[in-house]
Amino acid sequence: MNDHNIEIRERLKKILKPSRYEHTLGVCYTACALAMRWGADLKKAETAGLLHDCAKCYDNSAIVEECRRRKIGLTADELAAPAVIHAKLGAWKAEHEYGIHDPEILSAIANHTTGKPGMSLLDKIVYIADYIEPGRKMLPRMEEFRVMAFTDLDEAFYEIQENILDYLRTTGSFIDSNSLASFEYCRKEKENALHG
Ligand SMILES: [Fe+2]
Ligand SMILES: [Fe+2]
Repeated sequence: MNDHNIEIRERLKKILKPSRYEHTLGVCYTACALAMRWGADLKKAETAGLLHDCAKCYDNSAIVEECRRRKIGLTADELAAPAVIHAKLGAWKAEHEYGIHDPEILSAIANHTTGKPGMSLLDKIVYIADYIEPGRKMLPRMEEFRVMAFTDLDEAFYEIQENILDYLRTTGSFIDSNSLASFEYCRKEKENALHG
């Protein structure tokens, strides 16, 4: 780990709950392993993994207020389900409070909750690492997803999104339009690959 990432890790340890900090390290190391497997930039994966939840330390009303104070615009969907906002505020904090200016790292942080159409390799790595890191509780298909992430990254991204959307639908939860658009983009890509 380079000096800047060690410094980031020390700062996060002070502001995150112990369980969130452990999850952060799990995502960081899983993102590094996936970056090694799929040929992404290791240092960028490490930094994005470390910072992906750097804004996950507010309740719903506080996070909306934090965004307002910084003049970060929120969509109607984000206001309807504020749990996703920590990704956008996290990217802002990574840039303005942790000195990260690399657009690929900022994008991976900003898109780790909902995804978006046309995710980059690093975006997908952080999204998947967030779902499969070792500390995550064993959901029904977790073992399968963990293997798939190292054998077929795009299929893992597709199936994890499908699984999350199914879960949100069965629980009657609000679904952000970016999540739907991201999955639809992958579904079309998969269809095109199958049928040429
Ligand atoms: Fe998150
Ligand atoms: Fe996370």
